[in-house]
Amino acid sequence: RTGARVERLPLARFTTLGVGGEAEVWFTGSHEQLAEAMEQPYRILGGGSNLVISDQGVPERVIRLSGPLAERDLNPDPALSTPDEIVTGWVGGGVPLPGLVRALQKLGLSNLEGTVGIPGQVGGSVWMNAGTRFGEMFDGLHTIEIVTPQGTRQVTPADLDWGYRRSGIPLNHIVSRVRLKLRLSTPEAVLARMEAADQARKGQPKNKTPGCAFKNPTLPGGEKVSAGKLIDEAGLKGTRVGNALIAPEHGNFIVNLGGATAADVHALLRVIRERVGVPMELEYELWP
Ligand code: EPU
Repeated sequence: RTGARVERLPLARFTTLGVGGEAEVWFTGSHEQLAEAMEQPYRILGGGSNLVISDQGVPERVIRLSGPLAERDLNPDPALSTPDEIVTGWVGGGVPLPGLVRALQKLGLSNLEGTVGIPGQVGGSVWMNAGTRFGEMFDGLHTIEIVTPQGTRQVTPADLDWGYRRSGIPLNHIVSRVRLKLRLSTPEAVLARMEAADQARKGQPKNKTPGCAFKNPTLPGGEKVSAGKLIDEAGLKGTRVGNALIAPEHGNFIVNLGGATAADVHALLRVIRERVGVPMELEYELWP
């Protein structure tokens, strides 16, 4: 009706883990197409870089932002920008984060360079406040547009209960586009900070992976510890179920050796929960 492209597709190809059965994928490039897609039960698929999808696929419609909702306007909005703070035009939720971070570096615009190396799209990265030790998405957000079956609203970070790897936006509320809030710097200075963040990721596995499995837990004393270190200390690196492996390089990464199933990954997550004494919150999103 609204011209959204709909296709039944294997979801594995949309994920960095490379696992997942079929579903009906709705490629939506406008608010009208989004509204039509949301008339039936749906899930939203971003860059698929933090996602473990069942081998049976999912019965719901899978929404993927495309067209204008995967484009970016990085020009300063004159009405919202000041001499030292630039607020951009709209950046679609379907825009890949790595290309955006590179473009901002070339323009000498700072605030998001700490997210370098994160493979997702803008919408999913905002939804989970993706980040590294050097920075996170909420360092550079001015306005967030959220679409639900009830309608569209625009909020600022101050309206949300966001924190470490958390935006406060409910699951299945779609981050359709955002305006970025950036500081005027130089390409050289931004690049130098990107290289520092890149350096910290050198030891991470290169295989197919959804990234870190668990959020870093905060101990009763208030100290935040690396989940990877805890998994390592429990002696679990290199543990294999089927074709899924706890990475020998970093304990918090589960990798697909080729032909892994979602069931293999779930089994490894269970082993980690059983063997690490500290409660840890899952960072992966599981379908279903
Ligand atoms: N460590 C170990 N063994 C391990 C893993 C880590 O001893 O198996 C030690 C390291 O040697 C280091 C410390 O633990 O002394 C911290 O490790 P790292 O620098 O790798 O940081 P992390 O806290 O484990 C976080 C993020 C990563 C991000 C890196 C680098 C989380 C859950 N993880 O890992 O983000 O890339 O910092 O900035 O917050 C992700 O969220 O998907 C992710 C990969």
